[in-house]
Amino acid sequence: MSPLLSIEGISKGFSSAGRRVAALDNISLTIAAGETLGLVGASGSGKSTLSRILLRLLSCDAGAIRFEGDDWLTLTGAALRRRRARMQMVFQDPLAAFNPLATVGSVLDDPLRIHAVVSKDRRAGEIVTLLDRVGLAADHAGRPVRALSGGQRQRVAIARAIATRPSLLVLDEAVSALDVTVRGRILELLVDLQKQQGIACLFISHDLAVVRAVSHRIAVMDGGRIVETGPAAAVVAAPQSEAARALVAAVPRLVTDSS
Ligand SMILES: Nc1ncnc2c1ncn2[C@@H]1O[C@H](COP(=O)(O)OP(=O)(O)OP(=O)(O)O)[C@@H](O)[C@H]1O
Ligand SMILES: [Mg+2]
Repeated sequence: MSPLLSIEGISKGFSSAGRRVAALDNISLTIAAGETLGLVGASGSGKSTLSRILLRLLSCDAGAIRFEGDDWLTLTGAALRRRRARMQMVFQDPLAAFNPLATVGSVLDDPLRIHAVVSKDRRAGEIVTLLDRVGLAADHAGRPVRALSGGQRQRVAIARAIATRPSLLVLDEAVSALDVTVRGRILELLVDLQKQQGIACLFISHDLAVVRAVSHRIAVMDGGRIVETGPAAAVVAAPQSEAARALVAAVPRLVTDSS
C-alpha cells in the first residue's frame, strides 16, 4: 500500500546577508495512514521549514510531495482549498493570532462552515462533539478564547484542527509552551485521538522526550538533513547518529523512563 504522505527529495535554501543557507537538503520521509512520525532535531535543523513547505505556506527549491494520492505541491486554487481539509496543523499557541474576543464556538464553527463538514443545522452539535473529543465541556463554546488557560487553548486548537476530519495532523512545537503537567495531558489526548480516530501525525519538537511519548517512528534532523530514522524505542535506546546521541544525552532519564 502506498503511504499516506511521501516527501521526496525536498530542498530549500534561504539567502541571508548575501549568503545562501541550505535549510533543507534532500529530505525524504514517509508517513503511513494512522502513523505518528516524530521529527526531532536541534534548533535551526530545519524542522519548521519542512512543516511550512508541507502545509503549502512556503515553496521549496526541489523535490515532490505526494499526499493521499495527490501531487501535493502542484495543487492550486479550488482543488488545493478542498484538499487542505485533509491536512491540518497545530502550532505553538495558534489561537494567539485569533481575535481575543472570538468565542471558542466561533473558532470551531469557521472550519465547519468553510469546508461544509456538516449541514448548517448540525454545526452547533458538531462543536459540542469536538469539544468533548478534546476533553472540554460544552459550555466552553460560549467563552472567549482569551479567557482560556494555555492548555485549554491548545485543546481548542486541536479541536479546530480535527474539525475538518483530516487524515494528517502536523504539530510543530505544539506542546512546547505548556508546563510539564499540562503538556503530559495534551500528549495523552493526542495519543488517544490518534488511536481512536486513526489520524496520522507529523509531530515536530526539539525535545526528544516529548517526541518519544507519542511517536511510532522517529526521524532525526541535523543541519537540514535526515540523519537517522527508526522505531521510536530503537532511536532512543540505541541512537546511531551524533545528533540523535546528543538529543538522548540531553534527557538523561529518557531511556529508563519510557519503555
Ligand atoms: N525566512 C527565513 N529566512 C532566512 N533564513 C531562514 C528563514 N526561515 C528559516 N531560516 C533558516 O533556516 C534554518 C532552519 O530553520 P527552522 O526554523 O526550519 O529550524 P527549526 O528546526 O524549526 O528550529 P527550532 O527548533 O528553533 O524551531 C535556520 O538556519 C534558519 O535560520
Ligand atoms: Mg521550528
